Amino acid sequence: MERVIKTIGVLTSGGDAPGMNAAIRAVTRTARYHDINVVGIMRGYQGLIEKEFVKFTSSSVSNTIQRGGTILKTARCGEFMTAEGRKKAYDNMVEAAIDALVVIGGNGSLTGAQLFAKEYDLPIIGLPGTIDNDLYGTDFTIGYDSALNTIVQCVDKIRDTANSHDRIFFIEVMGRDAGFLAQNSAIASGAEAAIIPEGDTDVDQLAAFIERGKRKSKNSAIVLVSEAQKNGVGGAMYYAERIRNEYPQFDARVTILGHLQRGGTPSAYDRILASRMGYAAIEALMEGQRNVMIGIKNDEIVYVPISRAVKNNKPIDAELISVLNVLSM
Ligand code: F6P
Repeated sequence: MERVIKTIGVLTSGGDAPGMNAAIRAVTRTARYHDINVVGIMRGYQGLIEKEFVKFTSSSVSNTIQRGGTILKTARCGEFMTAEGRKKAYDNMVEAAIDALVVIGGNGSLTGAQLFAKEYDLPIIGLPGTIDNDLYGTDFTIGYDSALNTIVQCVDKIRDTANSHDRIFFIEVMGRDAGFLAQNSAIASGAEAAIIPEGDTDVDQLAAFIERGKRKSKNSAIVLVSEAQKNGVGGAMYYAERIRNEYPQFDARVTILGHLQRGGTPSAYDRILASRMGYAAIEALMEGQRNVMIGIKNDEIVYVPISRAVKNNKPIDAELISVLNVLSM
């Protein structure tokens, strides 16, 4: 028998990402348009366990589309990874008559959603909300474009001082285990190289490459470094240290961009993406879809089984690697 959804809960979980508010707004307004009640769940799964529920109306999300962070707040909740935690969360949902859940978050948050859906008869729709862009089945995640733009603005500034001092900068960016932010910000900022977990980095090759650039009158260099560790090594500090020790002729410096990459106003692209995905989440629930993540492929909304989305196997297009290699000569 088809279940009638009267009330949905919406939460944001894991690292905040610019555009999450636009997604909450779209979910809330689309649900209200269809006369579905909305409960805002504060602090992600933690709020589900602790019953931090707020009734959301259309005006709860006014004046939020342009704001970074998440008005629902967020958390990384260890308790939800236990069966007891999920039981508490489910009991609270039953008590509050919440029939379905929209989870906006990254890999860890959607993995939690998948476990929850397996254990309880509960429709869940995931929205990919993470700056890392590491969810399979979607070309882009909400927040990725904004973070990329933030990184490029920072790299442009660092380029000025790198040029002035003839220095090599190793700039570390986020992305967890994925190199999308590093690779694409390197292309967009005209950097000399990117060190990403999907590729193999040879320090000697890197040094030879920079040396070649110097001979061609490039006196400074920018290397974007993914934060990911591979076989226990990685990060900007590691590569800068090796270059300093093995090639003392280079004047190397490190900048770790850190959490500033997650903040700030969402880009127009992220606002539109989040609006389309939030709208699609409610449409999907009304169609009877469950346990899927909303994705975007070739600019079309698609449904991806959550179990597939979180497998950590989204590849980096080899063409992007060639583009950087050729253009940074
Ligand atoms: O998943 C988003 C992300 O910003 C990653 O890029 C990064 O590794 C991680 O979260 C940092 O998490 P936290 O804010 O908990 O330190």
